[in-house]
Amino acid sequence: MRAFKFVSLLVLIAMVFSSCAGAGAKEVKVAMLFPMTGGEATFGKSSKEGVELAVEEWNAKGGINGMKITTVLGDSRCDAQEARNQAVKVIDQDKVKFIIGEVCSSASIPVSEVANPKKVLQISPTSTNPKVTVDANGKHKPYTFRACFLDPFQGDVLAAFAYKEKGLKTAAILFDQGNDYVRGLAEYIKAPYEKLGGQVKVYEAYNKDDSDFSAILAKVADAKVDVLFLPDYYNKVSLIAKQAKDKGITAVMMGGDGWDSAELDRTATDGSYFSNHYSPQDPRPIVQNFLKTYKAKYGADPDALAVLAYDAANFLFSAIQETKSADPEKVKDTMLKITVEGISGQIKMGPTGDPIKTAAISQVKGGKIEFVKFAAP
Ligand code: PHE
Repeated sequence: MRAFKFVSLLVLIAMVFSSCAGAGAKEVKVAMLFPMTGGEATFGKSSKEGVELAVEEWNAKGGINGMKITTVLGDSRCDAQEARNQAVKVIDQDKVKFIIGEVCSSASIPVSEVANPKKVLQISPTSTNPKVTVDANGKHKPYTFRACFLDPFQGDVLAAFAYKEKGLKTAAILFDQGNDYVRGLAEYIKAPYEKLGGQVKVYEAYNKDDSDFSAILAKVADAKVDVLFLPDYYNKVSLIAKQAKDKGITAVMMGGDGWDSAELDRTATDGSYFSNHYSPQDPRPIVQNFLKTYKAKYGADPDALAVLAYDAANFLFSAIQETKSADPEKVKDTMLKITVEGISGQIKMGPTGDPIKTAAISQVKGGKIEFVKFAAP
């Protein structure tokens, strides 16, 4: 009799343990796939900080419906192959059901291709290329979402600002042809700019590893354009902008969200404008309170990457909470239904997993980034 009781006790203990490790786990594990090293490393640092702040706040309140949030980090380097490898690793080895990432569109697209067949839910905080959330037929990849606006909108904003507000009637556009975001944004600026009546006199591609831009900048100088669009990330923009200034090019430079980094060369880009997802000069109390919290923790103002990573994490956690389950198959349906007030504005997903958001235009001026205006869709 005693032996029987002992055995039943063991069976009971084993059952309790296995149920903790199984579907009814007391923990929600989330992977962060961000560029922690390489040319876009400031993007990864900020994004990680944003997610970690959200996780800390949720866990301090008792987690999501009592489930503690834990994270694993993968360094996907804004690189397609690296991102694919990291996505496979976190899903197959770490067994995550939720991915926040990547930052760069060229890396988020392969993550979506790994995550969807495996029914793992992905939210990219900042990837703006349309192909992140839809397949070649324009159909929503059901497990993929984003927290930011898209590049066709960003292109419209930049084209209208240059042509209508600044009266810049001729343009050069230089772009990295191998990068989905950069090539896409170049096209999304060109089409509306020409439609407005602008003339694109130079439209030139370069490669990721190029570092000497004298040949294409000679064409820009010859064409005497009013505006030079550089829709690349901060490291490449800094390089090209410096070489352009050294060549005596005086065209107003403009770019997109990829410029947002503490490492942008503010001397070379002095006087330039860029569009972004948020501005610290936004007077809404939710923004000003977040600035205080973030600054207290990290000692600096958050950039748009930190803000969107924080918003993406909060959106995901709210969806899990609302679903009352951490089953991604159910959570994905909730993602299409809820509305969450973010620091970067309200997030409500459209049918393809994309929210409609406002852009903020800023100017690089005397070493500072100054808010110019908001542009709504
Ligand atoms: N939008 C960029 C992309 O899709 C990423 C990015 C967002 C970079 C915000 C900087 C700031 O690749």
